[in-house]
Amino acid sequence: MLRPAITIFLISLLPTRYTLAQQPVNPYSYHIQKKTTVTHGAVVSAHPLASQVGVSILRQGGNAVDAAIATQLALAVVYPAAGNIGGGGFCVAHLAKSPAATHKPGTAKTASPAGKDIAIDFREKAPAAATRDMYLDANGNPQPNLSVNGHLAAGVPGTVAGIFSEYKYARLPFAKLIQPAIDLAENGFVITAAEARDLNSSQGAFKNYNTVQPVFVKGAAWKAGDTLIQKDLAATLRRIRDQGAKGFYEGQTAQLILQEMKRGKGIITAADLKDYTAKERQPTIFPYKDYTIVTMPLPSSGEVVLRQMMKMVETQPLASYGFESVKAVHLMTEVERLAYADRAQYLGDRDFYSVPVDQLTSRAYLQTRMKEIPADKAGASKDVRAGVLSPKSEETTHLDVIDAAGNAVSITTTLNGGYGCKVVVAGAGFLLNNEMDDFSIKPGVPNMYGALGTEANAIVPGKRMLSSMTPTIVLDKGKVYLVVGTPGGTTITTSVFQTLVDILDFQMDADNAVNQPKFHHQWMPDVVYVEPGFPAATRDSLKVMGYNVAQRGSIGRTEVIRVLPGSQFQAEAVGDSRGDDTAEGY
Ligand code: DON
Repeated sequence: MLRPAITIFLISLLPTRYTLAQQPVNPYSYHIQKKTTVTHGAVVSAHPLASQVGVSILRQGGNAVDAAIATQLALAVVYPAAGNIGGGGFCVAHLAKSPAATHKPGTAKTASPAGKDIAIDFREKAPAAATRDMYLDANGNPQPNLSVNGHLAAGVPGTVAGIFSEYKYARLPFAKLIQPAIDLAENGFVITAAEARDLNSSQGAFKNYNTVQPVFVKGAAWKAGDTLIQKDLAATLRRIRDQGAKGFYEGQTAQLILQEMKRGKGIITAADLKDYTAKERQPTIFPYKDYTIVTMPLPSSGEVVLRQMMKMVETQPLASYGFESVKAVHLMTEVERLAYADRAQYLGDRDFYSVPVDQLTSRAYLQTRMKEIPADKAGASKDVRAGVLSPKSEETTHLDVIDAAGNAVSITTTLNGGYGCKVVVAGAGFLLNNEMDDFSIKPGVPNMYGALGTEANAIVPGKRMLSSMTPTIVLDKGKVYLVVGTPGGTTITTSVFQTLVDILDFQMDADNAVNQPKFHHQWMPDVVYVEPGFPAATRDSLKVMGYNVAQRGSIGRTEVIRVLPGSQFQAEAVGDSRGDDTAEGY
């Protein structure tokens, strides 16, 4: 008799939505799971709690889009370094043929009978008061700290608008999708060792750049197992639950952002917030051998950089060279160099700048470019000032979702650097991005990832900054085969490229494609960066060929879902071992 009485007593202490039957996750006890094989659906994200939230939504009858939204919102709470409502990102999704899989009761919207690929751009925008030279001093010298830290570094956030654009394809009531995030913020969750380390390393910046000390600032050092409670964030999420996107872009949340801007001399205005819209764009779709690659168009690099790299290697017998053999790494590095040189010169927001996409991705152009690759020796990236690659900072985040109906969602979202510009909107509890640094603040001046740019990516009010984020889905005969993406600044596009060829050419399983060492070349600086564990023999041979090879910290945190062959739905889901990333499903 005693046991039920205690249980009832405990239930009565819990918030009303947290009945034990419904509680999807235990925020005070959870574990990291790297790999799972599923028959109903899977979610891979940077945090175990966020992945569990997503799967709980699938179990409640949500489709992949429902689960992706819930996961994205949970990440904004449990993974504050990158998960966000104060940043932006991109969503690529494949909605399967079956209308039942995507039909939301009470709406007329159905998936087309042929299935549908969608691309949602919720990248931040330059505020209306932004100017091309806003990060230069009176002598025209760059002041990079201004585009990286503090209020002036923030672009107009896009995430909440993006979530409501995604929601058109969801099925469950929005309140159900956001409630787990509200509960995690309101009641707290225990942090991992990695989160404790990240929070500790940013204490100085939080103190420096905030007008009101946020909950992330703590007297003693954070340690694994500490509980992080975010009441202000919970209140903001409740306003979004009750008022939709207006709960963020207008009303009290907008007022709190404006007050924060005033205290910190930021330039985001009420009109910037009210005018922000996410854009549903035509996804970039191109064939690769027998597969179809679906990726994000500009201002993502997917449209040009990923496509160029894939199309250039497609013509070569890559598989016969062997994974991370000298021949394979030589070819892939040279292809990366060529694509990133074009990125620096030509790419930016197409709504503002005419990018010659057709030419850059045409067969004839790529064939000509391939002729520039020297046989058996290193190419050279000359005549442009070198940038410095950031060795750390994996503070964008990616999530993959699939459901048994064949819907899949691939979302990469970011604050840019870890904890964005370090400014928490006082009273609203969320961090603002430092995405303005992704613009080219001056031609020839590298951004924090060493990327260079020109006019194409110069600051213009209302313009979206160029991004490396490349959420991608691969279709095999019209059905989802792979869901792929990663954070990692400029290494994102090369990591997605390598993951795809690892699976499609080198026939790797998802686990190896995620976890085998990666390498990266971005034209400038003229260096092949390799991860620890990269084969020493290949590295030595590359040096003999004239490559400047440098080992760096880990590259990206790639998430992959791969559908397995068979008449019944089955998939393997893998979270990157480089972080707390977790694959969940059932
Ligand atoms: O959009 C971009 O390309 C960058 N803001 C991504 C930043 C990132 O991946 C941070 N993690 N390393």
